[in-house]
Amino acid sequence: MEKPFIVVSDGFDANLFDQLKKVTEFEVFTESKITQETLKELLPKINGIIIRSATKMTKELIDQAPNLKYIIRAGEGTDNIDKAYCQEKGVKVSNTPGANSNAVAELAIGFMLGVLRKTAFAHRSMHEGKWDKALFGGAELTGKKVGFAGFGKIGQLVAKRLAGFDSSVLYYDVIEQNHGLAYVSRAASLKEMFEQCDIISIHLPKLKSTTNIVNAELLSCMKPGAIIINTSRGGIINEDDLYATLKEKAIRGAALDVYNSEPLDPNSKLLELDNLLTTPHVGASSEEAQYRVGEMALNQLQEFFIKDNLLNEVRA
Ligand code: 3PG
Repeated sequence: MEKPFIVVSDGFDANLFDQLKKVTEFEVFTESKITQETLKELLPKINGIIIRSATKMTKELIDQAPNLKYIIRAGEGTDNIDKAYCQEKGVKVSNTPGANSNAVAELAIGFMLGVLRKTAFAHRSMHEGKWDKALFGGAELTGKKVGFAGFGKIGQLVAKRLAGFDSSVLYYDVIEQNHGLAYVSRAASLKEMFEQCDIISIHLPKLKSTTNIVNAELLSCMKPGAIIINTSRGGIINEDDLYATLKEKAIRGAALDVYNSEPLDPNSKLLELDNLLTTPHVGASSEEAQYRVGEMALNQLQEFFIKDNLLNEVRA
């Protein structure tokens, strides 16, 4: 029997690729970060592929991969994979749940502190040769009321980390979560949460029902000194509405790691704002998280192709 042909298509920790090459049961493509053109050339032969969010496993790509059996999304979100079409074609899909959650949770905390203390803006100003001490007064995180839109694994981790800041937490989630944290309570509505909290942190998956769920109406419920951050998926906060809210300084500030369309257009009006902190979707990009997602993806790949065992399946 021919060995399964495995391709790794997005940037990963070198350990994943080194370990993968040692699995004698697999034939592994020699490059760990490939272009879209190379991917297209390899598609007819691929049996298994490990991706992050950059590779979009669309119907068009899946149709060009008649021998594809298994896609592993080394990470959490699978919105870059046409899962319904995979199901129709008998292609299995898994993710690596939890493996990068702490990295995202820590970025969320960093965003809260970064927006409240304007560190990135102060840094930029100093690099422009200025000493604008008066411009960079801020606010403290300690004792603030933090609201979570979505309170799954990552939201709960952020809330746990916030215990050290004596925070009180409100969350809005369709599911009542069994979190065991005394300082956390469930809000009756998103509106109530937006009205009451000093910090809003978005931890929702990207679904039809969550797209643009944070719009002008909700943003207008926020306190003037409040901030909002999004480390989950672009498009959950309506970008035009956020731009308008920040432009008129109706709230203190915001931070985004994720955008409607990635990479973000370098001419985006969002980048003109002096109260919006931006990072290029690096929530999961810690050394530790990338090591963990790589280990988990490799294990799942071996379980599937060698032991016929499908772990962490994600269905449409
Ligand atoms: C995820 O869904 O796991 C995160 O958004 C990280 O995505 P990335 O692995 O493409 O950085």
